[in-house]
Amino acid sequence: MGLCGAEIAGLTGPSDSALAGCAILKRFARMFRNHIEVTAAWIAITASQLRPDSRRCGPTSLPRPAVRRYHRVMSNCIYVLNGPNLNLLGTREPEIYGHVTLDEIAGMLEDRARELGLEIDMRQTNHEGMLVDWLHEAQAEGARAVLLNAAAYTHTSIALLDAIKAIRTPVVEVHLSDPTSREPFRHISYIGMAAALTVQGHGPDSYRIALEAVAAGRV
Ligand code: DQA
Repeated sequence: MGLCGAEIAGLTGPSDSALAGCAILKRFARMFRNHIEVTAAWIAITASQLRPDSRRCGPTSLPRPAVRRYHRVMSNCIYVLNGPNLNLLGTREPEIYGHVTLDEIAGMLEDRARELGLEIDMRQTNHEGMLVDWLHEAQAEGARAVLLNAAAYTHTSIALLDAIKAIRTPVVEVHLSDPTSREPFRHISYIGMAAALTVQGHGPDSYRIALEAVAAGRV
């Protein structure tokens, strides 16, 4: 039992000044402990930045230290998230979406990103909740921005609107076609209500233009 423990237990005959001294000592001990925790967290994140795989986009196998509560490390990584049916680009309604596949768009974006000193993490899912999870992940991983083509969920998903509002990572809404010149049900965009920018109607180039806007700091 330390001095203060003994004092408090009344074993050494507490006096007012001794108790006051104890309180001060305990406060210092607490401050010192907090300082150690923050320093340890800082060392952990710095070390993770030096690891070779830490520049890889997307989730890493690195442990997720509590440090994320203290620091948000902005990476060069841009998440490019694609919603339902975009896996069929190239054959899907080519008169609207063209013949370029999502893989080809990914390749083109990767090249452009490299020229701009950025990296992309291109993903596609047919599931709304997966897009929500990836938006959360983009923030947790410190992505610079998200390019989001939510496809049909654009016009229906309040969950995606809420997710975009819930994160600080800027989101750029992307569409190959221009939904505002198509059927009336495509004229509403829940994504556009929270997105930092919308790029649409330029075919595959919509993605490139969105990427360049991020690189130029326009979002
Ligand atoms: C789209 C436009 C949406 O209206 C549609 O549901 C899509 C693709 C586009 O990229 O043009 O699936 O997001």
